[in-house]
Amino acid sequence: MQNAQKCLYLQNHLIGGNNRFIFVDQITIIENYMSTNKHLIAPSVLAADFANLEKEVKMVNESEADWFHIDIMDGVFVPNISFGFPVMQAIAKHATKPLDVHLMIVDPDRYLKVCKDSGAAVITVHYEACTHLHRTLAAIKELGCKAGVALNPHTPVQLLKDVIQDIDLVCIMSVNPGFGGQKFIEHTYAKVRELRALAAGVNDSLLIEIDGGVSTANAAKLVNAGADVLVAGSFVFNAENPIQTIKSLKSISSDVQSV
Ligand code: DX5
Ligand code: ZN
Repeated sequence: MQNAQKCLYLQNHLIGGNNRFIFVDQITIIENYMSTNKHLIAPSVLAADFANLEKEVKMVNESEADWFHIDIMDGVFVPNISFGFPVMQAIAKHATKPLDVHLMIVDPDRYLKVCKDSGAAVITVHYEACTHLHRTLAAIKELGCKAGVALNPHTPVQLLKDVIQDIDLVCIMSVNPGFGGQKFIEHTYAKVRELRALAAGVNDSLLIEIDGGVSTANAAKLVNAGADVLVAGSFVFNAENPIQTIKSLKSISSDVQSV
């Protein structure tokens, strides 16, 4: 969408007040990123101290992080329940950076509107949870959000072949979704390279996001393989100095390690 169209759309469709401007800013930030090649860092709030959520959100605001990663789980698609939209709205109230929402839920179509209204800039649904993925992606874009698809570790990237041009972001799960603090799956590097090749010439602005077990031990290798967005939960929030840890993820050099 062009900026003028976007403003008109927002005036007509979004709830008023500051939210309108925050939303425009979030989409602009994402679109600006698409024309640069620096990787993004998205701390996963799942690992934050929920009793001090405002403080944790402000820490991310003040850091070099680019997005907030918001993990919503339903206890059905994944064997865990995290938090829902009221908590996401509380995060959005204090966040000054885009909210990248990872829906680990069955039948995500039912919740796209409330997700957008709760402050989402990117909405990612699971390939395995969508019977009509093409329709779901169109619905996300119709809301004015960026459309993402997450792949479980067992799901081949080739299954996205016929829809790759319709996706803004692919989230490659580098752990089985449901919990933070799990071990990174090494096969992820091969999937990143395969996905980049699949998108080449068809969707060169596709963002590849990696979610699960990300740390400075694998970040450079992931970016070198073609990753654009690194999600990090426990590595950031369990660190003694989260701001410094985010900085270390942001400042990794992608050309120091070969894949
Ligand atoms: C797992 C979530 C992740 C999780 C990552 O299902 O999607 O976003 O928070 O946590 P770490 O970085 O601790 O593996
Ligand atoms: Zn996630």
